[in-house]
Amino acid sequence: MRSLWWSLLVVQILLLLGFSNGESPYRWYNWNITYGDIYPLGVKQQGILINGQFPGPQIDSVTNDNLIINVFNSLDEPFLLSWNGIQQRRNSWQDGVYGTNCPIPPGQNFTYVLQVKDQIGSFFYFPSLAMHKAAGGYGGIIIRSRPLIPVPFPPPTGDYTILIGDWFKQNHTDLKAILDGGNDLPFPDGLLLNGRGSNGLTFTVDQGRTYRFRISNVGLTTAINFRIQGHKMVLVEVEGTHTLQNTYESLDIHLGQSYSVLVTMDQPGQDYYIVASTRFTSPVLTATSILHYSNSAGGVSGPPPGGPTIEIDWSLNQARSVRYIMNLFAEMKVRQNLTASGPRPNPQGSYHYGLVNTTRTIRLANSAPMINGKKRYAVNSVSFIPADTPLKLADYFKIPGVFNLGSIQDYPTGGGGYLQTSVMAADFRAYVEIVFENPEDTVQSWHIDGHIFFVVGMDGGQWSAASRLNYNLRDGISRCTIQVYPRSWTALYMPLDNVGMWNIRSENWARQYLGQQFYFRVYSPVNSWRDEYPIPIGALLCGRASGRKTRPL
Ligand SMILES: *[C@@H]1O[C@H](CO)[C@@H](O)[C@H](O)[C@H]1NC(C)=O
Ligand SMILES: *[C@@H]1O[C@H](CO)[C@@H](O)[C@H](O)[C@H]1NC(C)=O
Ligand SMILES: *[C@@H]1O[C@H](CO)[C@@H](O)[C@H](O)[C@H]1NC(C)=O
Ligand SMILES: *[C@@H]1O[C@H](CO)[C@@H](O)[C@H](O)[C@H]1NC(C)=O
Ligand SMILES: *[C@@H]1O[C@H](CO)[C@@H](O)[C@H](O)[C@H]1NC(C)=O
Repeated sequence: MRSLWWSLLVVQILLLLGFSNGESPYRWYNWNITYGDIYPLGVKQQGILINGQFPGPQIDSVTNDNLIINVFNSLDEPFLLSWNGIQQRRNSWQDGVYGTNCPIPPGQNFTYVLQVKDQIGSFFYFPSLAMHKAAGGYGGIIIRSRPLIPVPFPPPTGDYTILIGDWFKQNHTDLKAILDGGNDLPFPDGLLLNGRGSNGLTFTVDQGRTYRFRISNVGLTTAINFRIQGHKMVLVEVEGTHTLQNTYESLDIHLGQSYSVLVTMDQPGQDYYIVASTRFTSPVLTATSILHYSNSAGGVSGPPPGGPTIEIDWSLNQARSVRYIMNLFAEMKVRQNLTASGPRPNPQGSYHYGLVNTTRTIRLANSAPMINGKKRYAVNSVSFIPADTPLKLADYFKIPGVFNLGSIQDYPTGGGGYLQTSVMAADFRAYVEIVFENPEDTVQSWHIDGHIFFVVGMDGGQWSAASRLNYNLRDGISRCTIQVYPRSWTALYMPLDNVGMWNIRSENWARQYLGQQFYFRVYSPVNSWRDEYPIPIGALLCGRASGRKTRPL
C-alpha cells in the first residue's frame, strides 16, 4: 500500500516537472455541485448551483496557469463540466464531455487538471451532460495576459463578465423528456443576464473611465444581440484573439460565442440600460440590467434601446467586419520588440494561416431528419448517439466495437439520417479546410473543442470550389465557435495541432443533444508524451473500461 502511494507520488511529481510549466502558478478550486432554489424569472425553480451560486464562480486566471478543480457531484444524477474554448493542449482527458470522460457519479468527485497554456481571453464553462445546462451550472472563465506581455489597449478601469442565455420555466429533466420523446423544445420563456431577467443587476461605473465587458452566450437555443444605451462598444477580443478594434452600437453573439468590448463612460452622469435581446425569433425576448454612473443624477430614461431582430444581412456584414488586428500588432512588434502575445502560437507570428496549403477539405452539412419516428439532428446524415464507453477511453484501452473511424463522411451524403457513434479520423499536424454548409432555415452555431480555426469566408447559397476565390486569406479572425446563416456556408482553415478525441458540436443544445455533433480523433502514430499526455492517474472508468488500470505503475 505504502509503496503504491509512493509510486503514485513520484509519477505525479514527474508529471508536474515534465509536463506542465513548473513556473506557472497553480489555482485550486473545490466545487460542490448541488440543486438549489433559484427564481430567475420570478418563479421558483430547481437550479444547478456551484458552491451555492448561480451562475457559478468565475475562474480568474493568467496565461499558463494550472487549474486544479475538484468537482463534488452532490446531484442525484451523473455530472460533468466542460470548458468552452479552453484548448486542453495534449490533454483531451480533461475536456469533460461524454466522449472523453466518464460522468462523475452522484456522491463522488473528480479533479480536473487543466492548464490554460498560451491562451488569453474570455470563455465559459458549462455542464455537458443531459440537459443540465438548462438548469445553470455555468460560469465565466477569464485568462489574463501575463505581466509584461503587451496588450493592444490600455488596462481598463474595471472588468465585468456578462453571461447571457435563453431560459425555460420547465426544468432540465422535463426538457430532456421532450427531446427524448422525439419533439423539439418549446420557445424559451425568457432571457437571463447573469442569472437575472429584467433590470436584474446594476453595474456601477465612473464617468470618463473605460471598462471591459466580456460577454458570452451561454443559452440553449437562441442567438442574442447586446447593446448599452447611449454608449458605443469597441471590440477588442473574440474567444482568445485580439481583434481589429471596430466600434459597434450593438453586437450579435451566437450560441456559445464570447466577445470582449471596451466601453468608455462618456455620457452625462445618469443610469443607462444594458440590453440583450434574442435574434431571429418572434417574439423577441429581452433582458435588461442597469449601467449606473457613480455620479448618476437620476435613473434610466426612455425605453431600452431596440436592436436588430430578424435582419440576417446586418448580422452577416457585422460578422465579416470582425477581423484580426494585423496592423496594430505589426506596429507593436516594431515598437515594443514583441515576441509573444495572445494565443498560441501568436497566430500570425510563426506562420500566416493564408499561406499554408490545406491538405484536406471537410464539408459538414446539418440536417433535421426524422429517425424511427422521432425528431433528430444530424451531420452529413449521421445523428450521433453516445456509446456505452467514452470514446477516448475505448481508444486508449483498445476496446473494440465502441466506435469506428470513418463512421462519418468528409462530405454531405444526402439521403435520410441514421443513428451512429460518429468519429472522424484526422492526422496530427494536417492543415484542413472545413466548410459548414447549412441547407436549413435556421442559424447554426458550431464549436470545435481543442482547437482554434481561422474564419476564411461566409456567404449565402451553396459552397463550391469557386467560393475559395473570395476567401479572406489576410486578416480572418481565429476563434473556436462560429455561426452559419440560414441557407449559407462558413469556411475555416484549421491546424490540427492537438492530439486527442475532440468534440465538434452544434451549440444549439437541443440539436447537440439530438445528434448534431461528432468526434474528431486527431491521431499521431508517435506514442509520445510530447504529443499527448498519458491517461490521468485519477481518471474515472466506466462502461467497458471499468476495472482497467489507469496507468501502469
Ligand atoms: C455539498 O453541499 C451539500 C448541501 O449543502 C452538503 O450536504 C454537502 O456536504 C456538500 N459537500 C461537500 C463535499 O462540500
Ligand atoms: C476527491 O476529493 C478528495 C478530498 O478533497 C481528494 O482527496 C480526492 O483526490 C478527490 N478524488 C478525485 C478522484 O478527484
Ligand atoms: C422537474 O419537474 C417535474 C415536474 O414537472 C418533476 O417531476 C421533476 O422531479 C423535476 N426535476 C428536477 C430535477 O427538479
Ligand atoms: C528592440 O530590439 C533592438 C535590437 O535588439 C534594440 O536595438 C532596440 O533598442 C529594442 N527596442 C525597444 C523599444 O526595446
Ligand atoms: C501551395 O500550393 C501552390 C500551388 O500548388 C504552390 O505553388 C505553393 O508553393 C504551395 N505553398 C506552400 C507553402 O506549400
